[in-house]
Amino acid sequence: MNPHETSMQAVVYDDYGDASVLRRTQVPVPERGRDELLIEVRASSVNPIDYRIRSGEMKGLLPGGFPRIPGYDVAGVIIESDERGPLHVGDRVMAFLDSVVGGACADFAVCSSDVAAKLPDTLSFEHAAAIPLAGTTALQSLRDHGRIRAGHRVLINGASGGVGAFAIQIAKSYDCHVDAVASGENREFCLSLGADHFYDYETTDFVQSDECWNIVFDAAGKSGYWDSRSVLLDGGRYVSTEPSVKGMLMTILTYPLAKSGMVMLAKPCGDDLRALTDLYERGKLTVTLDSTFPMSDAASAHRRVETGVDHGKVVLLN
Ligand SMILES: NC(=O)c1ccc[n+]([C@@H]2O[C@H](COP(=O)([O-])OP(=O)(O)OC[C@H]3O[C@@H](n4cnc5c(N)ncnc54)[C@H](OP(=O)(O)O)[C@@H]3O)[C@@H](O)[C@H]2O)c1
Repeated sequence: MNPHETSMQAVVYDDYGDASVLRRTQVPVPERGRDELLIEVRASSVNPIDYRIRSGEMKGLLPGGFPRIPGYDVAGVIIESDERGPLHVGDRVMAFLDSVVGGACADFAVCSSDVAAKLPDTLSFEHAAAIPLAGTTALQSLRDHGRIRAGHRVLINGASGGVGAFAIQIAKSYDCHVDAVASGENREFCLSLGADHFYDYETTDFVQSDECWNIVFDAAGKSGYWDSRSVLLDGGRYVSTEPSVKGMLMTILTYPLAKSGMVMLAKPCGDDLRALTDLYERGKLTVTLDSTFPMSDAASAHRRVETGVDHGKVVLLN
């Protein structure tokens, strides 16, 4: 790929719909603004938000025009940057794109230099691409919203998923007791990531448990605050990833309560990516891949995530 090209290959869609709306075509290379990076994309990954936006499910929350390039996760090489910035041309980086509608599934992507972080030499583009959105969500949910502390009891609902698998490892890095909830097939996977105990949601409802937790992190967005309240310890916090009007009301109403609840929205942040690479370098964070697809077959990758992987991230390679 020639960085001086004015056009590039990208995966685009011109209307909401199923994965067949995704097509590869030639589009202009995005223009880099002040304090921004132009990154040659080597790999990206598919998150549920990508197909939820593509299908139109989120159109009330995320308006915006067409055509759109999907994807928020980027791993690649900086082609252009501000000379005075902390990141330079040639650096291997990952980024959680700060554009509202994505833009990662292309030859090149732009983002603020604040939302990218250098990659350790030992972290491949393929594995790095799996980290930004899901890893940031897990970190911000536990650290900023759950206010995690050493010794806390943490329950992670949806622990085998893209977000949950990072959450188990992050909570263990804080020396917490971690209870993982997923389908029975993922018991061994969750335990292998460090979970101390496992609940199969098909046979056990954690809200009926005699146990209590400092943090109930619903990475899957499948439970509710009012049900989970009974298993929160005093001062405990319920954090969900599922954005909804009901969830936003719950966030406001429960804010003053001793047991509060909130729906979080992940925010791109380079410092958080550096915190995640630090965990990786210290051997406290591993990345599990389900499969890789060529960028030109983004539609198959979307279908794979949409129909449910056993566990692990689905990565797109340029
Ligand atoms: N608010 C935000 O900023 C934000 C950011 C990132 C993600 N999200 C949302 O978070 C959710 C999870 O994302 P992800 O990437 O982790 O998805 P994912 O990789 O598809 O994982 C989904 C997880 O949910 C589990 N699950 C399915 N049904 C369940 C149930 N009834 N009870 C408990 N767990 C259940 C799955 O377990 P099994 O596979 O074992 O069934 C799996 O562990 C998505 O809805 C996504 O849109 C929101």
